Amino acid sequence: MLNHEDNELMCRVGPGTPMGNLMREYWMPALPSREFPKPDGDIKRMRLLGENLVMFRDSDGNIGALAEACPHRGASMYFGRNEECGIRCPYHGWKFDVTGKCVDMPTEPEGSNFINKVRARAYPCRDVNKMIWIYMGTKAEPPPLPDFEVNTLPFENVGEPNIMMEEANWMQNMEGDLDSVHLDWVHKRLHKDSPPPPLGINGFYNPDKKPPIFDVEKTEYGAYYSAKRLMDDGKEWHRVNQFILPFHTMISAGPTVNFRTFVPLDDHHAMLISQSANPAGPISEEVNARAIDAFAQVGGYIARTHDPRSYFMTVANKTNDYWLDREVQRDRMYNGIPFVGNLPDRAMTELMCNDEDEPLYDRSQEHLGTSDVFVIAVRQQLIKAAKTLRDTGELPANALDPSTGRVRMGSFLLDPGTEWRHAVADRLNPDSGLPVAADVGLII
Ligand code: FES
Ligand SMILES: [Fe+2]
Repeated sequence: MLNHEDNELMCRVGPGTPMGNLMREYWMPALPSREFPKPDGDIKRMRLLGENLVMFRDSDGNIGALAEACPHRGASMYFGRNEECGIRCPYHGWKFDVTGKCVDMPTEPEGSNFINKVRARAYPCRDVNKMIWIYMGTKAEPPPLPDFEVNTLPFENVGEPNIMMEEANWMQNMEGDLDSVHLDWVHKRLHKDSPPPPLGINGFYNPDKKPPIFDVEKTEYGAYYSAKRLMDDGKEWHRVNQFILPFHTMISAGPTVNFRTFVPLDDHHAMLISQSANPAGPISEEVNARAIDAFAQVGGYIARTHDPRSYFMTVANKTNDYWLDREVQRDRMYNGIPFVGNLPDRAMTELMCNDEDEPLYDRSQEHLGTSDVFVIAVRQQLIKAAKTLRDTGELPANALDPSTGRVRMGSFLLDPGTEWRHAVADRLNPDSGLPVAADVGLII
């Protein structure tokens, strides 16, 4: 459990909060590049870490992210014009470039230098391998982009981002990624030979009759762990997943790098952005198309409204029980929600609170068990980092050195009794030249 104070500190990310301040010192994925297909295209609203923004691609192809409210008298720049390397506020025509510099102030008399005294709040953005990254921190010169493989591999080896909006606090969502034991329940098919459900994939069948054994290692960039299960042939299956401060996970799910970020729009909405990368070659057109339309089997996404919280919101959601099928639940899957993306996980994490007005799970009410050891370790790392920044101004190593946290996840079959950390070390290193370790698929 967490006391109320630490729960609040861990979950809330708005301006001035300890966790919000920590996140702002990192580059963060914001929207896929495909949202801005051409220079001087449509201006988009966005909401990140509790701040309302407008984002656009300027005439030179650069991405801008400005506070939505114009610094003149607060009109929404969403209604502005994207023209000639900047956006012009629709109210009185003041114009700002991607750096926030006011480049035209047509309402002031000639010779006025007021234009030099006004800036829009602007955040640097980078467009790398199909993803727009944003830096919302305090440094005038942002740190270099992190060296994750999704950022360093050739463009064609990195997949289109697959995105799902989650209607819960970012940490409620991310804790699902830190919890390997839920595979044995939420994602389980009822019998080894259960036929596939009509929608979604066939689920997980644990070869081991006992719960997995967890072994956690904290690191300077976060933490990683092995969940060990015994296979029928006596081998030990180690599924090794990563947490990278402050909001990334790497979950072993196949032969490609699986990089995930829980991007908070505010305290109650976060996007799960998954991007895959294949060190061995290009990602196919079909895989990219599937990532863009990842929920096609369950009705796809709802039509967007003016509110960024409607972006990537799936048709199957809490208002319709995530398309729960009781027949499937009776005969085939432990949980009858179609296993498409993290849809079943959302049913577990979005409804943890009864209070619609304050939907933040109160962790002083929980009872953590043996299988929650990685959740506990990650909370400790996050709370320690946010408090250290608050109290001393010091940042974790990976906020300063972009190569820290250049790691992989993996799935390994090892002989019984093997010391797994040593055995898998090379395979968790992207620079070893070895393929992504996928000895056992996620769905077996
Ligand atoms: S409010 Fe934007 S130019 Fe006046
Ligand atoms: Fe899951």
